[in-house]
Amino acid sequence: MNNDKIQIGLFGFGTVGQSLYTVIGRARNAHAEIRRIAVRDKSKPRAVEADPALFTENPDDLLDDPEISLIVEVIDNAEAAWHIVSEALRRGKTVVSGNKAMIARHLPELVELQRRTGAALLYDASSCGSIPVIRNLEEYYDNDLLLEVKGILNGSSNYILSRVFDHGEEYAAALRRAQELGFAESDPSNDIEGRDSLYKLIIITMHALGVYVAPEEIFTYGISTIHESDIRYAREKRFKIKLVAQVAKVADDRFTMFVMPEFVDKSKYIYSVDDEYNGVVIRGECYDRQFMFGKGAGGLPTASSLLSDIMARRYDYRYEYKKTRFRGRPEYTTDVLLRVYVRYADTDIPAILPFREIRETYTSPDYRYIIGDIRLADLLERRPLLSAPDVFLCNIPLFFTDKD
Ligand code: HSE
Repeated sequence: MNNDKIQIGLFGFGTVGQSLYTVIGRARNAHAEIRRIAVRDKSKPRAVEADPALFTENPDDLLDDPEISLIVEVIDNAEAAWHIVSEALRRGKTVVSGNKAMIARHLPELVELQRRTGAALLYDASSCGSIPVIRNLEEYYDNDLLLEVKGILNGSSNYILSRVFDHGEEYAAALRRAQELGFAESDPSNDIEGRDSLYKLIIITMHALGVYVAPEEIFTYGISTIHESDIRYAREKRFKIKLVAQVAKVADDRFTMFVMPEFVDKSKYIYSVDDEYNGVVIRGECYDRQFMFGKGAGGLPTASSLLSDIMARRYDYRYEYKKTRFRGRPEYTTDVLLRVYVRYADTDIPAILPFREIRETYTSPDYRYIIGDIRLADLLERRPLLSAPDVFLCNIPLFFTDKD
């Protein structure tokens, strides 16, 4: 173990960067200090004050500094983050990142870059804020017993759903509040349209099953078109609606994955996951279900995860991506049957969606819904047609329902 303080170059001083500065200052045993901070605009007022001499607008002041051995990247621009992170790795610096959009899009290149340069990239903060889900999947669940990882991976949308569902608040007001509290992305459509959950799911799947699936190949549906009628339907059935991401084995050699709102009944762990909390259920043969719960968004929870990754480097911890080398890794498939609730008005859903079986229909002067069974591949193919404001889609779980 190296007892010298790790010298950090910090990229980004928004909610998470400022919180990391605070957390490092608070942690008595943090063998790390922030040596420079790179920002786009030094003159921008910030809630947390730091020594002005730390700030620079020139990324090379951090990348060229031989004293800086570790880069923390928490900026909100995925492409700029990719350039910083890949360059830092090429120069042999450790990188700790919370940038799920960048990591999910560039994961295969990032794995290759780490192998080639020997430099390490850690990113537990990218998925589920303070919950150590990546390191656990990487280290503990290192066997083929894993059947499913499923959960609430986005704090902002969960906060909005909790406020709307349990407290009767307006959707727009709840979204504004999620932004004020520092939960939402700078583009909150990433949160509410499910893309943020999608990015986290891609990262989780890499560490759960050793397989990378690109964002375009995964069906993703968010909560932006939820309506009072959907909430009423769920309440009548004593369900809650949660935005759920899941990766599930559907056979020994095949798995599927998607992000969708889901009707969740009281018997499920995620039913009680409210506000900005996240909850991840890990299911396996022999041990059935395990559950991880914690704050999934917000500066301080995310900073605590960054600090944990920084400290892990004192022991030279790195991801080995062991599962990517396993023989007989499962293959991704969208050839699976799902059961969905689709509420609509003007959009001609019966003409768009080729249901295999219709289980229930409802018609009123204002809206209709269909509950039916449909292939995930058919949903994915027709995804652009399901974005109209009069349409809302909600999953009715079929996998592993006999195992709860
Ligand atoms: N916007 C993200 C969320 C932040 O709401 O979960 C944490 O990744």
